[in-house]
Amino acid sequence: MKVTVVGAGAVGASCAEYIAIKDFASEVVLLDIKEGYAEGKAMDLMQTASLNGFDTKIVGTTGDYSKTANSDICVITSGIPRKPGMTREELIGINAGIVKSVSSSLIEHSPNTVLIVVSNPMDTMTYLVHKTTNLPKNKIIGMGGALDSARFKYRLAEALGAPISDVDGMVIGGHSDKGMVPLTNHATRNSVKVSEFLSAERLDQVKEDTKVGGATLTKLLGTSAWYAPGAAVSALVQAIACDQKKMFPCSAFLEGEYGLNDLSIGVPCILGRNGIEKIVEIQLNSAEADHLKESAEGVKKTNGLLEL
Ligand code: 2OP
Repeated sequence: MKVTVVGAGAVGASCAEYIAIKDFASEVVLLDIKEGYAEGKAMDLMQTASLNGFDTKIVGTTGDYSKTANSDICVITSGIPRKPGMTREELIGINAGIVKSVSSSLIEHSPNTVLIVVSNPMDTMTYLVHKTTNLPKNKIIGMGGALDSARFKYRLAEALGAPISDVDGMVIGGHSDKGMVPLTNHATRNSVKVSEFLSAERLDQVKEDTKVGGATLTKLLGTSAWYAPGAAVSALVQAIACDQKKMFPCSAFLEGEYGLNDLSIGVPCILGRNGIEKIVEIQLNSAEADHLKESAEGVKKTNGLLEL
């Protein structure tokens, strides 16, 4: 199992680290355009192998896509991250050009790959890959919902005073401060609806804290977060590589599902060796359905800024 991660910045490097630590891939190629940077990160990570007990080989390269050839899964994290006060949408100008050229170089060397897009604005970058490459739709996956759901569970556990392992919940919709749709109505603590424990006001607060999860960290760190994004990507990579059939909300290209068409947006997906093996349509209440519709309008507005 060969995995390529493009972008050896904080998100790409932590993603490579989590993949290696789980030890399911034979090789991880880390590619960056900054001279020597990916090679340095790869060497540093390889020097953790005997300490962390993994056999995955991590190789770094400065822009040599031939080293990525025949990757089963490729991850695009490249592009500029947001700074405090910026929205993900503001990154579109620079990141669209980067994602277009990176995806085309990756596919040239790995025509059968499953591609995971992390660069922001993520739903629009995922849509861009659909529009500009010939990869089938099940092999183009945007990572946002897995991260937003992890942040949702963190906030729910905090509000409940419960361990995170007792909590389950999902965030669908666009990966943006306004577009996220945390499904409080479906969230549970050990199979019991969280609404049994938390007031409507407290749940609204959990929702709001979840939606600005990335912005809160950007403000604290001065740049966007990396541990949870890296861990979320590695969970998707593992689900695909190990054919786990796990369900994660991912940005998927929709053709009628949830009444939506011609966009990529976060919906529950079963992930396996073929990428998105099924889009799961769950019953939404009218508030959730309206919120998803609004979120889709926002994503489409951002897609409209692409020069296709
Ligand atoms: C975040 O929300 C990287 O968009 C990412 O932290």
